[in-house]
Amino acid sequence: MHSSKLFTLLPFLRLAVAQHTWSFVQQGNSGIVPLELITLSPTLALMYDRPYTNPLKLPDGEPAWAGLWHFNNNSATPLKTITNTFCAGGAFISNGTLVAVGGQPLDSIPGWGNATDGTMGIRLFGPCDSADGSGPGCTVFEDPQNMHLVVTRWYPTALRIPDGSLFIMGGSDILTTFNGADIAQNNYEFFPPRKGEVGKVRPSKFLNDTLPANLFPRSMVLPSGHVLMMANNQSMIYDIETNTELHRLPELPNGVRIGVPFDGFAQLLPLSPPLYEPTVLACGGSTKPDTITLEEMNTEDVASTQCQRMTLTPAGLAAGWQVEHMPEPRVMPETVILPSGDVLILNGAHTGYSGYPSVGNSAITGTNAANPATRGIMYRTTLPAGQRLTQTGLPTSSIPRMYHSAATLTAKGNVMVAASNPHPFVLTADNNPNNLSFPTEYRVEYLNPDFITNNSPRPVITHSPSKLAFNAKGTITVTIPHSLAAGELQVSLMDMGYITHAWHANSRLVFLDYKLVGNTLTITTPPNGNIYPPGPAWIYVVADGVWSEGVQIMIGDGGDPPRPPQGVPVHINSL
Ligand SMILES: *[C@@H]1O[C@H](CO)[C@@H](O)[C@H](O)[C@H]1NC(C)=O
Ligand SMILES: *[C@@H]1O[C@H](CO)[C@@H](O)[C@H](O)[C@H]1NC(C)=O
Ligand SMILES: *[C@@H]1O[C@H](CO)[C@@H](O)[C@H](O)[C@H]1NC(C)=O
Ligand SMILES: *[C@@H]1O[C@H](CO)[C@@H](O)[C@H](O)[C@H]1NC(C)=O
Ligand SMILES: *[C@@H]1O[C@H](CO)[C@@H](O)[C@H](O)[C@H]1NC(C)=O
Ligand SMILES: *[C@@H]1O[C@H](CO)[C@@H](O)[C@H](O)[C@H]1NC(C)=O
Repeated sequence: MHSSKLFTLLPFLRLAVAQHTWSFVQQGNSGIVPLELITLSPTLALMYDRPYTNPLKLPDGEPAWAGLWHFNNNSATPLKTITNTFCAGGAFISNGTLVAVGGQPLDSIPGWGNATDGTMGIRLFGPCDSADGSGPGCTVFEDPQNMHLVVTRWYPTALRIPDGSLFIMGGSDILTTFNGADIAQNNYEFFPPRKGEVGKVRPSKFLNDTLPANLFPRSMVLPSGHVLMMANNQSMIYDIETNTELHRLPELPNGVRIGVPFDGFAQLLPLSPPLYEPTVLACGGSTKPDTITLEEMNTEDVASTQCQRMTLTPAGLAAGWQVEHMPEPRVMPETVILPSGDVLILNGAHTGYSGYPSVGNSAITGTNAANPATRGIMYRTTLPAGQRLTQTGLPTSSIPRMYHSAATLTAKGNVMVAASNPHPFVLTADNNPNNLSFPTEYRVEYLNPDFITNNSPRPVITHSPSKLAFNAKGTITVTIPHSLAAGELQVSLMDMGYITHAWHANSRLVFLDYKLVGNTLTITTPPNGNIYPPGPAWIYVVADGVWSEGVQIMIGDGGDPPRPPQGVPVHINSL
C-alpha cells in the first residue's frame, strides 16, 4: 500500500519527470507597470514602478507608482510611497520585512505624482499579515531623512546573506545605458549597517573591473556562505567576513556578456543535501564587445543563444564552464525556478538591448530592442546536457514583454507574467502618434501548467508549521493523490526572489530531506544560514513532477538582522 511506504530522497536516482503542457490566461490589469514584482503571500504581490501617468491612482487622485496585486480578484490597489522606487533592488530580511533599496533620481514632472529622489531610498514593507492587504504592516515605511543608503544607487543588487541582513552591491548615480567610471558606485554596503561600517562603503575591484556592464550584478549566496558575483563576462567569489575576493572564475566563453545592457540571467540551480554542491546557470545576453558605442548598437543585433553552467566546487572549477544553447537567442530573459527544480525562461527579446531608447536606430521605434520573445523555454535541470533546453509544451503569448517586464512564481504554483514599458513615459496604444513600438503593458497573464489548467489531482499540504529553526525536524500533513504516489517525491524550500530587470535576486531552491509515513511528512530544515539565509520561505511538495500549492514558513528565529549563526556547521562541497 503506497501510503505506508517510506520514501527517502535519493538525488542520484532522481528520474526525469513528465514534461508539462502550459497555457496562458489573461486576467486583470496591473494599473502600474510592475517592473519590480515580489510575491508576498498567497493573496498578495508587491509592485513597484516609476511615477508617471499610471491609471492606478492614490486616494488624492495622483498616479500611484507602487501597489499591491490581489491574486484573489486579479486587481491592484495603490500604495503610498515617498521616494521614487524605480530601478531599486531588494530582498526579504530575517524578520520577514521586504526591503527595497536605491532607485531613481527625482522625476519632477507635473501630473506624474509627487516622488522624492529615490537613489538613496530604503523602503520597508511588512510582514503584512492580512490577506487583503489592509493591515497595519501592509504599508511602505520610509524615513528618508534618517534611514537611507550611504551612497546613491540606481540599479543595485541586494542579497539576503547568512546573517539575515542585506549585502548591497553596485549601481550608478543616474540613469544610463552603460555604467561609467564617473557615475558608478563600485562598492558595497549593508542594511542594517554593520558595526564599524556605519556611513561607510567597501570599494569593489570586481565592479571596477567589470565596467561598463556591471549594473544589477547577478549574485548569489553559496553554501559556503561566500557570495558569487557575475557582471559583464566575469565572475568572482567573495568572502563577506574578510572582505576578500577568493576566486576569479574563467570569463564567460565565446565572448558572451550578461551584464546590463547585455542582459542575460544567472540562476543558482537547486541545492540538495548532503553536500549542497552549487551549480550556477547563466543564459542569454550578447556577444558584442563592451567597447561598442551606442551609435554602433542596433535593435536588430541578435542576442546570444548561449547558456553556460559551472558547479562551484574545486572539481567543477577545474572543469570550467559547460556550454549549451537555447533554441533561440534571448536578451532580457526572466527566469522562474519551479518547485520541481526546472527553470522557466520567459519574456525579453531576440534582438537588441535593455535600456531606454539610446542605441543607434532607437529613435525610429522608441526602443532598444525588437523581435519580442513571446514563447518560453524550459531548462530541464536534471536531464543530460544537450537535452535540457526545450520549448515543447510551452505556448506563445500575443503580448510582447520587453524591457521592464516581470514574471514570478505564485503560491498557487502558476507563473504571473506582467508588465513591459520600454518608454520613459506611459505610451498607450490608442495615443501613439509617432507609432512607437511596444506600448506600456498593464495586462497580466498567468502561465498555467496542465495540472492547474485541467484541475487534475495535485499533492495538498493540509497543515504545516509557520516557523522552523535550522537543522530541525518539522511535521507537515499532506495528501498525495494515488495517481502520483508511485512517482518521485521532492520537498522544495524556496525563495521566489525579488524580480526586476531580468534578474531574480535571492531566488533559491533547497531540496529538503524528508520521510513520508502515511500522510505525515517529516522534513529536515537546512543545517544553517549558508544553505538558506534566515528569512521567509515557501514549501512545495512535488510528487511525480506535479507540485502542491505553496505554504509560507519562516526559517530561523525570525529576529531582526544581523542574526548570530544559527543551526550547525556541516561538511559541504562549495567554493
Ligand atoms: C510632495 O511630497 C513632499 C514629501 O513627501 C511633501 O512635503 C510635499 O508637501 C508634497 N507636495 C505636494 C504638492 O503634494
Ligand atoms: C480586490 O480585493 C481587494 C482585497 O480584498 C480589495 O481591496 C479590492 O477592492 C478588490 N478589487 C476589486 C476590483 O474587487
Ligand atoms: C579601475 O580600473 C581601471 C581600469 O582597469 C584602473 O585604471 C583603475 O585604477 C581602477 N580603479 C580602482 C579603484 O581599482
Ligand atoms: C571579457 O571581456 C574583456 C573586456 O572587454 C575582454 O578583453 C575579454 O577578451 C573577454 N573575454 C572573453 C573570453 O571573451
Ligand atoms: C507602425 O510601425 C509598425 C512597425 O513597428 C509598421 O509595421 C507600421 O507600418 C507602422 N505604421 C505606420 C502608420 O507608420
Ligand atoms: C526588521 O528589521 C529591520 C532592520 O533592523 C527593522 O528596521 C524593521 O523594523 C524590522 N521589521 C519589523 C517588522 O520589526
